[in-house]
Amino acid sequence: MTTGTSSHKLWGGRFATGPAEALDRLNRSIGTDFRLWPFDIQLSRAWAMALWQGGVLTLEENEALESGLGRVGERLAAGAQPEAGDEDIHTMIDRLLHEEVGAVASKLHTGRSRNDQVATATRLWTMDACSRLDSAMAALQQVMVERASDLQDAIMPAYTHLQRAQPVSAAHWLLSHFWPLQRDRRRLTQASRGAAVLPLGAGAIAGCAFPISRVLLKESLGFHSVTPNSIDAVADRDFVAEVLFTLTLTATHLSRLAEDLILFGSSEFGFVRFGDRFSTGSSMMPQKRNPDALELARGSGGRLLGDLVALLTTLKGLPSGYNKDLQDDKRVLFDAVDTMLLVLPAVAGTLGELTFQRERMREAVTGGMMATDLADYLVTRGASFREAHGAVGGLVREAEQRGCELDALPPATISAAHPLFGEDAPDWLGAAFSVARREVEGGTGPESVRAQMERAKREI
Ligand code: ARG
Repeated sequence: MTTGTSSHKLWGGRFATGPAEALDRLNRSIGTDFRLWPFDIQLSRAWAMALWQGGVLTLEENEALESGLGRVGERLAAGAQPEAGDEDIHTMIDRLLHEEVGAVASKLHTGRSRNDQVATATRLWTMDACSRLDSAMAALQQVMVERASDLQDAIMPAYTHLQRAQPVSAAHWLLSHFWPLQRDRRRLTQASRGAAVLPLGAGAIAGCAFPISRVLLKESLGFHSVTPNSIDAVADRDFVAEVLFTLTLTATHLSRLAEDLILFGSSEFGFVRFGDRFSTGSSMMPQKRNPDALELARGSGGRLLGDLVALLTTLKGLPSGYNKDLQDDKRVLFDAVDTMLLVLPAVAGTLGELTFQRERMREAVTGGMMATDLADYLVTRGASFREAHGAVGGLVREAEQRGCELDALPPATISAAHPLFGEDAPDWLGAAFSVARREVEGGTGPESVRAQMERAKREI
């Protein structure tokens, strides 16, 4: 069965019949690429102008196309929907342009192909998406910095191997999730720059045969350079891969923040309580307060990785030039961007409405966590660290046998463990004391954390 011959097509003259419905359904990409329309119109206007400047179109023709494309844009903005025969957004815009300006619309496709057209539109969309993503990331960072500023003097356990390790400022822990996002934003800026290379003018594969200025096209569309090779230009999807990788890493970072918070929100930890607006209930268990936004954020790490792997697998082994496999680049790109634009504000909202239970955090800091400080005490008195480690290890064992914490051991027991222990040794088992000793740059000491907060604010 074939589709109706009445449908608007950008090709078909050489075929006796239209495509089979099974091919048509598979081939049709408008369900995915419809959203490229503002960028397709933008590049089409620039292309009409380039054709006029190149002497291919008359001024009147350029003006007709220019105003026609403007009206097509208005119709699309007002909600114009695809027709059954619209293969992709480029075809639909071409159809609408014919409706608006008649036969002159057929001149717009001179010297260009959907191959350079779709690559250009997708790059423009990506550049715009990168700036929306950057704002969403910066908004999350802003919440982190605000929440951290209240937590500078709150002390909590830091964990290694998910075992209590050493006391830290809660602000220090929260900011540990800020810096990965800062790196993501830097990567996103680079990815956006990678996208800002103009393929238009590459034609189908060999380059446009009409004297259009790619430099003017580049300038008018906001690209920073033009592609140096037309064969590469129509097939290069590195920019998609770079954005997907960047977002996969962001999703990975958010999944780790989410995991910390989910864990800290459990009754067993009780360090945080989720706000009502970012908690969901259970249809069966009335007592439940579930952190769904964080769980979905954590889950999106897998989804984004799937998008990245799908793209790289599609690209791997493709022959030179455009191949239809590339049509699926947008499916994964849009999915990844859409997902992150949902996840980032939801994580920011959840974080903004958390209540930090400082008491619970503080109570979780136990004496044994200052064992390193006690060993450091001996080092300041002249012992080697290995010797100090051994002596304090003996005290830890002793405390374990007595069923008490290190700081509950009698001072005499401590003194007996090493000749260099003095009366002031138990002071070194204080959590605030331990935190205050770590004023190294990047450490958890109060001054260091203040400096880190300032730096974080500057970098947003
Ligand atoms: N819808 C197509 C895509 O997204 C447009 C390019 C079509 N090119 C072609 N030679 N059929 O890739």
